[in-house]
Amino acid sequence: MSVVAVLLLACASVGGTADPTADARRVVLAVQYVGTDYPLAVRDGTVINAFEYDEQTAFLRDAVALYAQRVPAGRHAAALEALRDAHARRVPAPELAARARALAPPLADELTLPAAPAAWPPLDRARAVFATVCANCHGATGMGDGPLGKPLVPPPATMAVPAWADERAPFQLYNTITLGIRGTGMMGYAPQLDEQTRWALAFLVLTLRTPAPDAPPAPALPLARLASRTNRQLAEDLVTQRRAPDLAAGLVLADAARRAPPPRPTPEQALHAVTTAAREAAALVAAGERPRADNLMDEVVAGSLREVAQDLRLRDAAGTDALLGAVRSLRGAITDGSNVDARVADVLARAEALAVANQPGGAGPGWGWLPTALGALLVLAGLVVLLRRPR
Ligand code: HEC
Repeated sequence: MSVVAVLLLACASVGGTADPTADARRVVLAVQYVGTDYPLAVRDGTVINAFEYDEQTAFLRDAVALYAQRVPAGRHAAALEALRDAHARRVPAPELAARARALAPPLADELTLPAAPAAWPPLDRARAVFATVCANCHGATGMGDGPLGKPLVPPPATMAVPAWADERAPFQLYNTITLGIRGTGMMGYAPQLDEQTRWALAFLVLTLRTPAPDAPPAPALPLARLASRTNRQLAEDLVTQRRAPDLAAGLVLADAARRAPPPRPTPEQALHAVTTAAREAAALVAAGERPRADNLMDEVVAGSLREVAQDLRLRDAAGTDALLGAVRSLRGAITDGSNVDARVADVLARAEALAVANQPGGAGPGWGWLPTALGALLVLAGLVVLLRRPR
């Protein structure tokens, strides 16, 4: 198959639109890309791959210029310059990676680029597109051995290799799939593939490492976390939360979480998750582990609580807002380490009130509204009759 055939194939698939945020995305991608691919270009202060190094230098130069154009006097101008300077000085890889990792999220935020898809990405669609389009270069299993990839310099990425996959996050791959990499065989797919499909491809590519049939049940992780953290970071989180015995098990769980959306929790399950997390967070703060406590609350807020907020509101809008407020206060207390126990007690009380509101005979809507509604209807009917009576 020729390159032209691949391009035609790509054009024939799900229609997308040109990326309206291309410049902003280019800035963020440059930072992400250099952060992960620097070790391919520089080792021990020496350039080991001139093509790769020059490519990175050009990306950073363009990023600095585009950023200045888009946000004159932007908040991250100095940090972006510093990253470029560190790259030019060929600093050790961990230093460069740390700078890039710290800069990319606030930069994306300032440029208002969403770092996660709006809904769970359709992985089945991504599988079909990968097999017909991407596999021509990247190979059916992502080993970079597709027939069209053979003559390409640089060669197609080998996505199924752990050393590659573990250090990248879907947000970075989404940006690459959207924009492409100039000067290489990797084109941007924004015109051909819609946004959800591109996100799904970014998720799919990071699961090629482990075969699906072995997958354990997926842990429920917030979509925002799945999209912006690397495989390794997700696995480390799972290990610290004692949900995986070791890094290898954590990596398998991370893949499972990316492959399938967790079942939607019932409001009762979500309330239970919130109270359990609040209690555990208090214990973590007492043990001096504030970041882990914050992580735990973030997970439950962005995950199960968000999923059921709408259902809870229908049940008791004021009570739901009170619970969300209490959770927010608890997170504030965790951050500055004060009053945590009182805030936890508040969360427990609000959650309990909402759970009670759903029980038959509870304080909530139940059928208790029926007499009132009937009464109101009768009054209304009476009024209508009164008004209609011929004088
Ligand atoms: C014509 C060949 C070709 C096709 C088709 C192709 N790619 Fe690529 N892709 C490449 C090459 C070459 C690179 C390596 C570029 C580099 O190293 O700078 C690459 C790199 C990538 C990267 C890695 C970027 C990084 O961070 O290192 C991702 C992700 C990717 N491709 C995804 C896809 C997806 C998804 C598709 C299908 C929609 C696809 N590619 C189709 C050739 C191709």
